[in-house]
Amino acid sequence: MRTASVYVCQSCGAKTSQFFGRCASCGTWNSLVEQVAHSTDGRRRSNSFDPAVEPAARRSMAMASLGDQPVCRLASGYDELDRVLGGGLVPGSMVLVGGDPGIGKSTLLLQSATAMAQQHSVLYVSAEESAQQVKLRWLRLEGVVSDLQLLAETDLELVLQELEALRPAVAIIDSIQALHDGSLSSAPGSVAQVRECAAALQRLAKRQDTALILVGHVTKEGMLAGPKVLEHLVDAVLTFEGDRFASHRLLRAVKNRFGATHELGVFEMQGKGLAEVGNPSELFLKGESASGVATIVAFEGTRSLVVDLQALVGVTSYASPRRTATGLGTNRLHQILAVLEKHMGLPLSRYDCYLAVAGGLEVEEPAADLGVAAAVVSSYRDLMLPKGTVLLGELGLGGQLRPVGQLGQRLKEAVRLGFHRAVVPQGSGLGPIGEELELELLEAASVTEALVMAL
Ligand code: TYD
Ligand code: MG
Repeated sequence: MRTASVYVCQSCGAKTSQFFGRCASCGTWNSLVEQVAHSTDGRRRSNSFDPAVEPAARRSMAMASLGDQPVCRLASGYDELDRVLGGGLVPGSMVLVGGDPGIGKSTLLLQSATAMAQQHSVLYVSAEESAQQVKLRWLRLEGVVSDLQLLAETDLELVLQELEALRPAVAIIDSIQALHDGSLSSAPGSVAQVRECAAALQRLAKRQDTALILVGHVTKEGMLAGPKVLEHLVDAVLTFEGDRFASHRLLRAVKNRFGATHELGVFEMQGKGLAEVGNPSELFLKGESASGVATIVAFEGTRSLVVDLQALVGVTSYASPRRTATGLGTNRLHQILAVLEKHMGLPLSRYDCYLAVAGGLEVEEPAADLGVAAAVVSSYRDLMLPKGTVLLGELGLGGQLRPVGQLGQRLKEAVRLGFHRAVVPQGSGLGPIGEELELELLEAASVTEALVMAL
């Protein structure tokens, strides 16, 4: 049944019945998004009045009078996924999993769905691939047999009907961009479609306590398509990333109402699907002894990872030297180079500098600064850092070292992996942990002091 559409400016809220490239009211370009004006299909569109909700539950109540129900979580079948989710899937919640096409989202979710279906009712909605294609992939995966239900459908209405009929504990929609709401004239994948489909699914899922996992593709600009709209709507946003040419994949929580963000899960793509990597430090630790290599301990979510950094510094033959960084912000690298130039007197502005983090990890935290500086100086002087040393510390613009968080936990991980020497900022205040750890702890007040100690 066709319903009237209205185009609403996302910037000023003005409504028109016709699409324009530019809002006539506020003049913003490309801000009009189609919405359903009014609908005869009250079941799906009634936002505020849900007949399934008891009248008493619509009244406000005293916070203290609310019983504290423990959140029961559904295990996803994979520890790495559970950790990123904050301990498993919460019934009635909606999780968005984003990532580049071909990175392995469908594989991850099909594996997880298969595992979950051993204990719960699970519906896998494939809007992108035919049932046969999904079956072929399923057969390829490591042989778990379970009662997974499959629906290959792109029409939102039919998906909703099936969800209502089955009332599964978990439903996976692969992908939200391929779903189509017939009452909107916009193309599948457009902002209006993505939002309407996700909202309709969420209303139903909340009502029947189904945990929903939506797959979303990342656009060329690196944003989840239908981007901000969906991020606000869902309870958790996970991104699945990795180098297409390497086999490991990183799963990260960008937003999570039920757990910590920046939690990291590590998988490896194999011939029979994705396998969990329980000890990821080994992936990021290349163990190479060469000049230009320094080791740091990164902190991701609740977990420490020992990671190698590698720098290559050479005399430039360009007017302005080349600086590239993989896995680290280029601005950060520029800043560290400037500090080294000023406070250690190294003429780095006449040198090219390339920096890479091993294993495709992104290291954003400033605790890596000292490691970056050590890698750069090690390459510049062509001196190897002694084996078994980790370096941690944030670099101030005056060349001073600032303490880093969770130092004890980081050093524990380093010791576990056989490191026996750590250069850390002065006054890090490790306390009793420092005595427990079998580690030579070198405290430095400035980057110069730290590098003299380390090299
Ligand atoms: P896919 O899950 O289809 O990616 P997405 O849903 O994110 O687009 O992953 C596809 C890639 O994974 C494809 O290039 C083939 C590879 N793959 C394996 O290497 N091993 C496997 O067992 C499977 C199922 C896929
Ligand atoms: Mg897919």
